Amino acid sequence: MATLILKATEACNSSCAYCDVVHKPRQGPAQMSLPVLERVFHRIDEFLRESPDEELEVVWHGGEPLLPGPAFYARAVELQQQHCAETSARVSHSVQTNLSLFSREFARLFRQLGMDCIGTSYDPIAGVRGPGDRPDTAAYNAKFMRGLRIAEEEGFGWGVIYVVTKLALERPADVFYFMTNLKLDGGVNFHPVLVYGPEPRHLAITPGEFADFLGAIFPVWWRHQDRYPEVEPFRSFVRNAREGAISLGCGDSGRCSHSHWNVAPDGSVSHCGRSADWGLLPYGTVFDHSLAEMRRDPQRQALAHRNEVLPRGECQGCRLWAICHGGCPLDAWADQHSFDHRTPWCQAKKKFVEEYFEPITGLRCEFDAEGRTVQPA
Ligand SMILES: C[S@@+](CC[C@H](N)C(=O)[O-])C[C@H]1O[C@@H](n2cnc3c(N)ncnc32)[C@H](O)[C@@H]1O
Ligand code: SF4
Ligand code: SF4
Repeated sequence: MATLILKATEACNSSCAYCDVVHKPRQGPAQMSLPVLERVFHRIDEFLRESPDEELEVVWHGGEPLLPGPAFYARAVELQQQHCAETSARVSHSVQTNLSLFSREFARLFRQLGMDCIGTSYDPIAGVRGPGDRPDTAAYNAKFMRGLRIAEEEGFGWGVIYVVTKLALERPADVFYFMTNLKLDGGVNFHPVLVYGPEPRHLAITPGEFADFLGAIFPVWWRHQDRYPEVEPFRSFVRNAREGAISLGCGDSGRCSHSHWNVAPDGSVSHCGRSADWGLLPYGTVFDHSLAEMRRDPQRQALAHRNEVLPRGECQGCRLWAICHGGCPLDAWADQHSFDHRTPWCQAKKKFVEEYFEPITGLRCEFDAEGRTVQPA
């Protein structure tokens, strides 16, 4: 499915210790204007009319996407009805929010956009998430829990991203139990913290440390997985090892080259949030190019090219290739200023698979050229 990331705003009401959203220099407006929003829906309709077999997922992102307020989303509902009367059945919506501003009004509007699940982020460790230079975690937690309660009362499912920092390495089991106890059937996705500059160095972790963090909690999940069904990346590793390569996630799919657009508040389009932040892969604006034209942008070849270069080079002979594809191209660029490399997180995947996943599960993570699982004879 094609994915359109919509940065409703680049501003945020929080200042999480690892996030550069509030610190990075901004050139354009913080919030998406209504003319840009209208143009986006026009482009969505145009794209789906031209591509009758396509479906499109709109991901409302930020900054904090609830900051523009309910009126902004009420307008989005109207614009979709107005511009996408015949194509809206092929549009789905999701949101990635800190939930601190969530309300019943947002719930009603998100339902009108067809959402039944909300993506959020959280960390119970003091000083990581929240507003202010020294994040006020207690105040933030209260708002997050309030938002979560409303989401649950309004019948939404929810999934949460947990960003693993140096602070989490000291207490993997506490983090795991806290996150999974928030709601036992809610999905938790463990990501490593990404630190590109000198700050916040004190939170940075190595790929080996990330593998060890996963390894510390994996045995608990594996033993009680009926209780914790959607913990990532564990669920994906098991599914891939059992059913054949489906890949571990968007960044590892090797297929993002032609499926993503990221629309900034001023209507400029890049590949994803990080490429936009770093001035890479600019595809034009929603005012001067159609989505289809921007999908054909020759710059995308640089991403597809990795699939040719890496299996003959740095990833040659790797048994994880079919589920990893060298990792996220933007992580590679952050490390080497070139897409034609594997990412440093390579080491985390190999270590987790070899030292934890395979010995504990008895499953083998090995895939042939067609992505079929190769199990020991
Ligand atoms: C930039 S936020 C925007 C959406 C929303 N404000 C939220 O917090 O969910 C999107 C996701 O990126 C994660 N994130 C922010 N900075 C990060 C970093 N340095 N490394 C890894 N993930 C990060 C956040 O935890 C969140 O899950
Ligand atoms: S709430 Fe989201 S966008 Fe805001 S600072 Fe935290 S991680 Fe960044
Ligand atoms: S695990 Fe490492 S070598 Fe293997 S495909 Fe991924 S990045 Fe390449």
